[in-house]
Amino acid sequence: MLVLGIESSCDETGVALYDLDKGLLAHHLHTQMALHAEYGGVVPELASRDHIRRVLPLTRACLADAGKTLADLSAIAFTQGPGLGGALMVGASFANALAFGLGIPVIGVHHLEGHLLSPLLSEPRPDFPFVALLVSGGHTQLMAVRGVGDYQILGETLDDAAGEAFDKTAKLLGLDYPGGPMLSRLAERGTPHRFTLPRPMLNSPDLDMSFSGLKTAVLTLVRQVEAEHGELTEQLRCDICHAFQEAIVEVLVKKSLKALKETGMKRLVVAGGVGANKQLRAGLNDAAARRRLEVFYPPLALCTDNGAMIAFAGAMRLKHAHAAGAFTIKPRWDLS
Ligand code: KG4
Ligand code: ZN
Repeated sequence: MLVLGIESSCDETGVALYDLDKGLLAHHLHTQMALHAEYGGVVPELASRDHIRRVLPLTRACLADAGKTLADLSAIAFTQGPGLGGALMVGASFANALAFGLGIPVIGVHHLEGHLLSPLLSEPRPDFPFVALLVSGGHTQLMAVRGVGDYQILGETLDDAAGEAFDKTAKLLGLDYPGGPMLSRLAERGTPHRFTLPRPMLNSPDLDMSFSGLKTAVLTLVRQVEAEHGELTEQLRCDICHAFQEAIVEVLVKKSLKALKETGMKRLVVAGGVGANKQLRAGLNDAAARRRLEVFYPPLALCTDNGAMIAFAGAMRLKHAHAAGAFTIKPRWDLS
């Protein structure tokens, strides 16, 4: 059973081939980062046009890598939502046209399901049930995952997603788009405890989070520092990055532990772009080791958007007979 997966929900075109017996056979990715950098954010029209240019060459590259042809495909999975409407339409049209031509099923996959199942793509694989911490540029949620298709939202951000908070804070510190990874590199050179920022909703009784106030707190801090020091030196910028990352990581670690405690689950799976953050990984690993909990991460290359997670989620849906074949997109779509 060979599934072609297509991801085109935002600014990455990802294509992959997943075989139910042999695992991931090939995956290729084209990131549009450079295309959008000069605008300081994703321009939807440019994103759609670029997906159109990339999707066929990437599909050919995957087939060539795996030594397969279109005739070997059993099904085609694509990201049906949530995401940018025009960008989603590219993947939906391509997948449906190709599947129709080949006479095989098409499977619409929820982007977040792709992320939360992605840690199953590598060893060691977490067993169900587990708590998933989804931390991407568009979403921040804690989910109870009891099996394929059995997801319950435990808590989520009430405003900005964690990745969005990283990117917006990076922007106001003058870092290039997308600033999340750069902010976290600068944070490594920051002086611990030089500045302290608030931990929004850290002690709230629920599992919800809020990150937009943190960005405003950074803005206030930058103004204070500039008033005091005249300008934001490189070291001061690193110190602020450190304080920001420390605050956001503490909230994510504490809420994840609370979710594990409340559900009685012993496994945490981290997915989404912010899952690549080293400080978050160190914080979670440390907290888990002290409580005999296990934490699982997708390989770094599969943390951010990619086609492999969509091919895999599609294959799981096919295996569990959950395939949904419809030529629709869902730019807004709740997972549970
Ligand atoms: O999952 P993803 O590729 O796309 C969405 O579905 O949103 O996540 C992208 C987000 C961006 O906000 C990016 O800044 C953030 O993940 N990100 C990071 C790191 N690497 C990527 N944030 C903090 N530290 C990182 N190392
Ligand atoms: Zn994503």
